Amino acid sequence: MNLDKLKKKAAWAALDYIRPGAIIGVGTGTTIFYFIQALSTIKSIIHGAVSSSNTSTFLLKKQGIQVFNLKNFSSLTIYIDSADEINHQMQMIKGGGAALTREKIIAAMAKQFICIVDKSKIVDALGKFPLPIEIIPMALSYVSKEIIKIGGEPKHRKNIITDNGNIIIDAYNLCIKDPILMEKKINSLPGVVTVGLFASRRADIVLIGTKKGIRTIKQNKII
Ligand code: 5RP
Repeated sequence: MNLDKLKKKAAWAALDYIRPGAIIGVGTGTTIFYFIQALSTIKSIIHGAVSSSNTSTFLLKKQGIQVFNLKNFSSLTIYIDSADEINHQMQMIKGGGAALTREKIIAAMAKQFICIVDKSKIVDALGKFPLPIEIIPMALSYVSKEIIKIGGEPKHRKNIITDNGNIIIDAYNLCIKDPILMEKKINSLPGVVTVGLFASRRADIVLIGTKKGIRTIKQNKII
């Protein structure tokens, strides 16, 4: 079975967690594309969505799902998103789709973060996937130098301007032994808007699409 089919399975499984009348936090990416399609089938029972990117806003509206402005909310019941990598502690690398800052804001606001992935995203240690870092453009050389100091190889992601008007550095080959510490360290560099390590605020539930069906991980327990 190809990975797209597994993404789709995980996306549809997320519908089981949605309560009537809810406002759903919606992530960004190809897995979320399938989730938005699934969500459209129950749009009459939800109140609407808040979105982590202009792309997802467009897709949600196209499906007739009302999108609210995040600035009017201080908390949310549920956030559904995917990840580029997720470890067994449910900590993630995100930002392959350049939406990491808005994704992190929604993740922080949500009581429950449900991560939907195909099985290829599960890793023992984070860092094989280059770590995305959204930065203010003028900080490019400075932040790149600091990433080299901690052992990474920074590459400016070409032709990408984020929805917030910033740029992305992808840090290759970082040895991420302590994801929470690394998240704090990179976030504290002047010029960094957000690092794509979701370690302090990790997922609460992971739905993994596999050939045999959905594997659910909740608080480090496989169900
Ligand atoms: C976007 C993200 C995505 O969740 C991540 O890149 C996974 O995407 P996909 O579902 O396309 O594999 O963090 O910024």
